[in-house]
Amino acid sequence: MNESRNKITELFNIKYPIIQAGMIWHSGWKLASAVSNCGGLGLIGSASMYPDILRENIQKCKKATDKPFGVNVALLYPNLDEIIQIILEEGVKIVFTSAGNPKNYTETLQKEGIKVAHVVSSTKFAVKCEDAGVDAIVAEGFEAGGHNGRDETTTLCLIPNVKKHISKPLIAAGGIALGSQMKAAMILGADGVQIGSRFAATIEASAHENWKKKITELNEGDTHLTLKELAPVRMVKNKFFNELEEIYNVGRNTEALVASLGRARAKKGMFEGDMENGELEIGQVSALINEVLPVEKVFENLLKEFNQTNNSTL
Ligand SMILES: Cc1cc2nc3c(=O)[nH]c(=O)nc-3n(C[C@H](O)[C@H](O)[C@H](O)COP(=O)(O)O)c2cc1C
Repeated sequence: MNESRNKITELFNIKYPIIQAGMIWHSGWKLASAVSNCGGLGLIGSASMYPDILRENIQKCKKATDKPFGVNVALLYPNLDEIIQIILEEGVKIVFTSAGNPKNYTETLQKEGIKVAHVVSSTKFAVKCEDAGVDAIVAEGFEAGGHNGRDETTTLCLIPNVKKHISKPLIAAGGIALGSQMKAAMILGADGVQIGSRFAATIEASAHENWKKKITELNEGDTHLTLKELAPVRMVKNKFFNELEEIYNVGRNTEALVASLGRARAKKGMFEGDMENGELEIGQVSALINEVLPVEKVFENLLKEFNQTNNSTL
């Protein structure tokens, strides 16, 4: 991949159309600034941060990079108005919203000159994003780690369909860790990619070392998309996962499920390193991640593989 401009590099003023996903318990200022310094777009994940911690992360990120970076705001978490206020006060220029209605904050943010992208998992919601006036759409397939859609549409099927129905810049997410996968997504019609799981297993990610190591040991079939009626989420099949499945199978007790989930379990697993009792969010592509690497090396690999994957003709 060279530095030729496209819709995504133009929109965010970055060198490569590679976005590091906002990820709870992983993407603080260290990860986001490292990605931005490599020419991608780093996103601070606000969903696991109290408002004052978010402010601190934004301020540190501004010091660590002079390149563009953004904040991911998952609309299913609390303190939203406070978080948006901090984003405005700190002069953040790019916001990726997810897990909610794109109409809620797009206009407020754009009025302040902020570029807004929203994450969806279906063509229907991609069209709603376009109606809401977002600047870019992230279409995330069933393979992806973390919260996801209910329809089980894979990236391979989702991207061409979304592309057919929207005209805004399109970012593919879900199942992308290699340069060949990035190229495939762009051949399908994406203008750029959002990568989560690969960046979760980097030196700069703020997750616990037990968890980073575990990611590198996962195989095909070790993750599952669960809780589809409640808040679908792809996670590792560990003791906690089995407990959730049990509650779910015995009468789908929503209150009990909600009580078991929440920030505490995700923190216990991914931030505190409890590999059995914590919630471990990661994508199917973890089966292809065998090493914890510095961000710079992830970029080097992505670009090399992208360039080596040929577009041969039949
Ligand atoms: C550990 C983890 C935490 C995540 N947290 C968030 C989040 O806070 N907000 C969000 O919009 N998406 C979140 N996601 C989804 C990512 O933003 C991204 O779309 C997804 O990881 C892409 O798929 P991949 O994991 O196959 O690369 C998370 C994903 C992972 C793996």
